[in-house]
Amino acid sequence: MHNPSLITSIEARNQAYRESLENPEEFWGHVADQFTWKRKWDSVLDWNFEEPNVRWFDGAQLNITENCLDRHLPERGDEIALIWESNSPNEESKKYTYNELHEAVCVFAQVLRSGGIKKGDRVCIYMGMVPELAIAVLACARVGAIHSVIFGGFSAHSVADRVNDAQATAIITCDGAYRGAKDIPLKAIIDEALQHCNSVKTVWIYERTNIEIELKEGRDILWKQAIAHVNIQEAINTPAETMEAEDPLFILYTSGSTGKPKGVVHTCGGYMVWTHYTFTNAFQYQRGWVHFCTADIGWITGHSYILYGPLTAGATTLLFEGIPTYPNPDRFWEIVEKHNVDILYTAPTAIRSLMSAGNDWVMNHKMPSLKVLGTVGEPINEEAWQWYHKMVGKGNCEIVDTWWQTETGGVLISNLAAVTPSKPTFATLPLPGVEPLLVDENGNEIFGNNVSGNLCIRKPWPGILRTTWGDHERCKQTYFSTYPGLYFTGDGALRDENGNYRITGRVDDVLNVSGHRIGTAEVENAINLHTGVIESAIVGYPHDIKGQGIYAFVIYQGLETDLRTLSHQINETVSREIGAIAKADKIQIVSGLPKTRSGKIMRRILRKIAEGELESLGDTSTLLDPSMVDSIIQGRL
Ligand code: WT7
Repeated sequence: MHNPSLITSIEARNQAYRESLENPEEFWGHVADQFTWKRKWDSVLDWNFEEPNVRWFDGAQLNITENCLDRHLPERGDEIALIWESNSPNEESKKYTYNELHEAVCVFAQVLRSGGIKKGDRVCIYMGMVPELAIAVLACARVGAIHSVIFGGFSAHSVADRVNDAQATAIITCDGAYRGAKDIPLKAIIDEALQHCNSVKTVWIYERTNIEIELKEGRDILWKQAIAHVNIQEAINTPAETMEAEDPLFILYTSGSTGKPKGVVHTCGGYMVWTHYTFTNAFQYQRGWVHFCTADIGWITGHSYILYGPLTAGATTLLFEGIPTYPNPDRFWEIVEKHNVDILYTAPTAIRSLMSAGNDWVMNHKMPSLKVLGTVGEPINEEAWQWYHKMVGKGNCEIVDTWWQTETGGVLISNLAAVTPSKPTFATLPLPGVEPLLVDENGNEIFGNNVSGNLCIRKPWPGILRTTWGDHERCKQTYFSTYPGLYFTGDGALRDENGNYRITGRVDDVLNVSGHRIGTAEVENAINLHTGVIESAIVGYPHDIKGQGIYAFVIYQGLETDLRTLSHQINETVSREIGAIAKADKIQIVSGLPKTRSGKIMRRILRKIAEGELESLGDTSTLLDPSMVDSIIQGRL
């Protein structure tokens, strides 16, 4: 399939960029022409950032799975759509051709239909990284159900919050999941969560680990039994649901600076165009290439660059069940060699952890198939960038540093592999359709180069979030009100002398731990639930592997226990409330927190203490009790 919107030179990039901003309607209309629509749009773009209201391809109808699957069948039905690699190197890989994946999705779509799932219903998916996860997601999209994938590391409590917020009527899960040396009892966690959810009528369970599970009569159905009843021919012949371009495709919950995660909503048409456009251009995907994105489908990276981007492009996408260091820290390299991976897309935290395992593990693998190395999720430090380039890419691969967010649907700022230059630690230039700008605290634009500020975007691109589920006001408040008329990313950035952007990290109360977004308020709420905890404040601090670690300052007046036991117990509470990813790396018991006279915690000071920058604490005279700071410093971990 010829991709008319593939950019292949700097000149073409600059021209596309100019055209996309001068005449977005013509530009994106042209890009969108290459997809399969059931009906074309009446207008390409209507928008204002005040409400906000953004509509792309209004009036158009489509089903995204016809673009991921059906349209490839005549030409490449027998080519591999999906390669699955097990957690264990001893278990055989699985491969699905486009024909096979299409069939599997049609069959499970039929299961959903017979379970009463219809367009607009919400279905939560809580599974390990098995092919059936991809099938479940696409089957939801096929029948028009709004999927909400919940990362398998979240606790029952977090699952329940998300299921309730979305008012999901069904769950698709597994008995358990393998992740490295661990088995996660997913179904048992669902059972616990569902004690607090009454919207859920049906639970489908794919058996992966064969652990014992309880089945609830009238609610729980085994995947294998359900698909056994489907007439395959009928399933294939049942048309995909007709969706409006602006109908929601999925909800994905993400943490913000307040306590409650918000459900970011993406819609069918714009998201499809954006993931395809960014996938093909940033990675410069070529027909026949194998694309290995190591993220979990529970995060936006997995949605956009394991599933929708690669599949709309007709690529071979690789889905890996395990983790980079199991059984050894060369598991990625083994997989790259075994499947002749062309594009590897991973996170700086994974790169740093593999780097710390020593060079032998990577030097034993030549990996001649590799062409493009992508990074995403957090700022990449120079050392990790160079190691990725030299050790993994053997100096022969392009590195693309792709900056984006759950809310942006796909990449916004990145170099285009071998087309525009890379610059270590810089995401470099915006993609066509993306107009970044830097503002100061008061919202005044910072012009010129060699400047830094808060990163905003001026106009909508097709993949921008449309709302936060059930609470449009929150969407407005969070992203469109800080700087009226602009989308605010929550990130700080620097612009160099050539206009390249370097993302320096979050400027709000959001942490980025191992590439996962963690809201400080959420963790504090969890810690505060622990018996004896009076109050807590958490901040990030630089961590060699995770990028940021979590430092908790806790006021505790409970039973006397030794610090180690207490820290352990507090983290158990965090695991129970949120999940193990939010555990604190350091917990310091303090007698008070630095507060202003109005009672606001001065996080700036705590951040400096956690970072060890004790000389630059700044002005502490406005504190209610400035001596508090000294006592916290003395107890520093
Ligand atoms: C935040 C978004 C988008 C996929 C994974 C994370 C940080 C993301 C980069 C990058 C520097 C990056 C930002 C952003 N981030 N990519 N290439 N360089 N920082 O999605 O959970 O929505 O987090 O991740 O701080 O705001 P997310």
